[in-house]
Amino acid sequence: MMSAEIFFITTAIDYTNAPPHIGHAYEKVLADVIARWHRDRGRPVFFLTGVDQHGQKVQQSAERAGVPPAEFAREITAKFKALWVKLGIANDGWAETTDLRHVAAVQDVLRQLHDQGDLYKARHSGHYSVRQEQFLTDKERNEQGEFGPEWGEVVFLEEENWYFRLSKYRPWLAEYLAAHPEFVTPAFRGTELANAVAKEAGDLCISRPKSRLAWGIELPFDRDYVTYVWFDALMNYATFAGYRARDGAGLPDFESLWPCDAHVIGKDILVPAHGIYWPVMLKAAGIEAMPKLLVHGWWNLGGAKVSKSAGNIIDPDVLADRYGTDALRYYLMRDIATGQDADFNEDRLRTRYQADLANDLGNLVNRTVSMAHRYRGGVLAEVGVTDAEAFALRELGIEAARNFDTAMEDGFRVHAALESAWLLITAANAHVEKSAPWKLAKDPAEAARLDGVLVALVEAARLASALVHPVIPAAADTLLEQLGFSGDLSTQWGRVRAGHRLGQAAPVFPRLESQES
Ligand code: MSP
Repeated sequence: MMSAEIFFITTAIDYTNAPPHIGHAYEKVLADVIARWHRDRGRPVFFLTGVDQHGQKVQQSAERAGVPPAEFAREITAKFKALWVKLGIANDGWAETTDLRHVAAVQDVLRQLHDQGDLYKARHSGHYSVRQEQFLTDKERNEQGEFGPEWGEVVFLEEENWYFRLSKYRPWLAEYLAAHPEFVTPAFRGTELANAVAKEAGDLCISRPKSRLAWGIELPFDRDYVTYVWFDALMNYATFAGYRARDGAGLPDFESLWPCDAHVIGKDILVPAHGIYWPVMLKAAGIEAMPKLLVHGWWNLGGAKVSKSAGNIIDPDVLADRYGTDALRYYLMRDIATGQDADFNEDRLRTRYQADLANDLGNLVNRTVSMAHRYRGGVLAEVGVTDAEAFALRELGIEAARNFDTAMEDGFRVHAALESAWLLITAANAHVEKSAPWKLAKDPAEAARLDGVLVALVEAARLASALVHPVIPAAADTLLEQLGFSGDLSTQWGRVRAGHRLGQAAPVFPRLESQES
């Protein structure tokens, strides 16, 4: 499934016009889980993420705050960065679009497109959405013939601007999509894109006059203009992967990374930005290998879109403080199906924490380690599979590991992967109840059977902890340590050796205080 030796993951870069919310956190955790899953299986990964610092939205927010846009973007950038550290996002590369290495590369591409005749200047008058930073056509009108609220403030503008000959590349894109169904995951989003490509016509306005918007990258061939924020921002995926970078710039080797194997974006920015502009920009710049887009759905609140103007922002920073990073990561991965939307609900987060993490996984490890200490002084005997039930648990473990990886390979369905791991956890807890080690311990004739039960439970708990490690890395590390398997992320069954020594049991998922809500 990998097109290069290094699995290259990237995410949409976040606007620095407002602090991060739960939707941003979800996307970063999803990408991080994919990255960690590859690393845990021993595959090299380069994970890039970052911030989109230019454009009208940022300029407007800065004006409202009464600070220069650079300063405003810097402050919001610091908030994103701190949150990613707190949420355990282990990215390898970091993109900031005000970075001069990026600016130089974007100008270089613009110069090339200009020189090869892909850009032209024209006068245009029409409706312009301030929020979406684009001219609107009749196609964007709703059934009532109006521009809906999603476009925000719409003004009438007449302007001379630079245009990119998108229409010239349209037939190529349509053919590419038909021949490469793997370009977009899930497939229904690919169909949506193909339909849009068949409909959409016209070229792309890639400039904004400085008189109206100064906060952007200057066109290298016309100093009165900056480039459209999307043209600038989309290029980050290549520039921070080393595209057109100078030696010694501290960026990766583009040839060994490109293209992205998992390019993680939300459903709102597939058409037209990532599904149309982006591949056409790459093609026009001379890059033939295209990324693979993974399009996720949205977290809503009470069925409504999470937005600052609706006043229903959920602060992931507060949630991480209240429940812990791993609890938040787990909820965000478990209660949404990749590609679909979900409704955020803090009660569900609490329930999942209590039921899945504390009662199922936490309890399995805790009782396993405690029993090993109580009955065997924390040291296990080497035993093969002793009875039919332990054999069944082993079979289940092997199947869980296989199903976990299949779910990840097939559309990064993290929720389904977690379900597989939980089948094993549930079965292991049932095995405790059924084999009742506390009874076996009382009967010397059952000593071998008790050894077998303990070994099977340690195996199951270790394997489950290793499987969930990409989702709840800190907790999984602690669980593995308690099981005496620090740093062992193998997903094979059968790691216990004669004389295996367990660590000490301690609660990893403390009970929630009832007054917290
Ligand atoms: N800056 C552009 C992307 C440029 S990429 C060259 C942008 N930024 S954003 O901050 O508005 O969104 C960043 C990412 O967060 C997008 O992938 C978007 O889909 C995602 N989400 C924003 N709100 C979301 C939810 N409520 N739920 C899930 N993801 C959402 O778009």
